[in-house]
Amino acid sequence: MQSTASHTKAPGKSHPVVTEDQYFSVSPLMLLADNAALFSVYLRQGNNFVLYTHAGEMFTHRHKQRLAENGVTEVWLKESQRHAYTAHVEQHLGNVLADDSLPAEARAGALYGIASDALQDVFAQHGAGALPADTARRARQLVEHIISFLKVPNGITALGRFIAHDYHSWTHSLNTTFYTLGILQSYGLPDESMAHIGLGAMLHDIGKAEIPSSILLKPGPLTASERQCINTHPLMGVARLAQTELPQTTLNCILFHHEKLDGSGYPSGIGGTAIPLAVRAVTVADIYDALASERPYAAARPPFAVLQLMRGEMADELDMDVFKNFVLMLSNAGLTKT
Ligand SMILES: [Fe+2]
Repeated sequence: MQSTASHTKAPGKSHPVVTEDQYFSVSPLMLLADNAALFSVYLRQGNNFVLYTHAGEMFTHRHKQRLAENGVTEVWLKESQRHAYTAHVEQHLGNVLADDSLPAEARAGALYGIASDALQDVFAQHGAGALPADTARRARQLVEHIISFLKVPNGITALGRFIAHDYHSWTHSLNTTFYTLGILQSYGLPDESMAHIGLGAMLHDIGKAEIPSSILLKPGPLTASERQCINTHPLMGVARLAQTELPQTTLNCILFHHEKLDGSGYPSGIGGTAIPLAVRAVTVADIYDALASERPYAAARPPFAVLQLMRGEMADELDMDVFKNFVLMLSNAGLTKT
């Protein structure tokens, strides 16, 4: 939520009242107590934003408690300090997610929001060549948070409700990770394997940053050479990660996520069981999220219509066992109704 306001002095408050700026609201539950936050916290009174704690000041348990006692459910931060807030929550995300006193929805919202912001940073490195090593580490940490959160009772349902269907490379990457890990939950894989696969799902389209936006976002049909250019993105993705030490499973997900079971995919045309299970899961997750999302060249389709298409026209291309697990996961989590 955003608001712009010009301000007068708030009645009965000694704190200075800020001048024109943009603000966004967050739940006070997301602010870690006993921490010197690098952003200021404001309370809203009508159209005025009143300073509650300064950037750099200790945000104490008492500060947090007073908000709860007064029934304050949202506090306001300046847009210009959003990055500091995101870094704050990302750094403490493990504590937030493990806090059983917070409702699952609040924790899911924090996880989706932070992961989405972090991935937006990653995908903003357009045409940047090799991906910095700390980016892969940051992505891996997000994957680990998602794996833990999916084990929380109703975690899948809570997280699924935040899935954004307006297509951006970063939301698509996050949604694909979530769906892939959701599918594979029933396969009983160790957490370490899940982390490798989740990282592959998260970075599966990282090669698209090397494709010109004029082709990537072209609203009309692609020419043969434009299609050829887009089809290089799996290889480009692996090339961008050549300097980063990553497990083969992760690289397989990036390189082979457009391969099809019937051998009609790219870049290699491998098929059947030559495509690892992890990759087959990423492919199902990737296709579902792409078709269910609004894209520059295609409207979003309702979940049920996408599933019908996948089970019908795409039946020879996709692993139907993986697909069935996906449908079951969506259905158990109540995510097929919208
Ligand atoms: Fe792709």
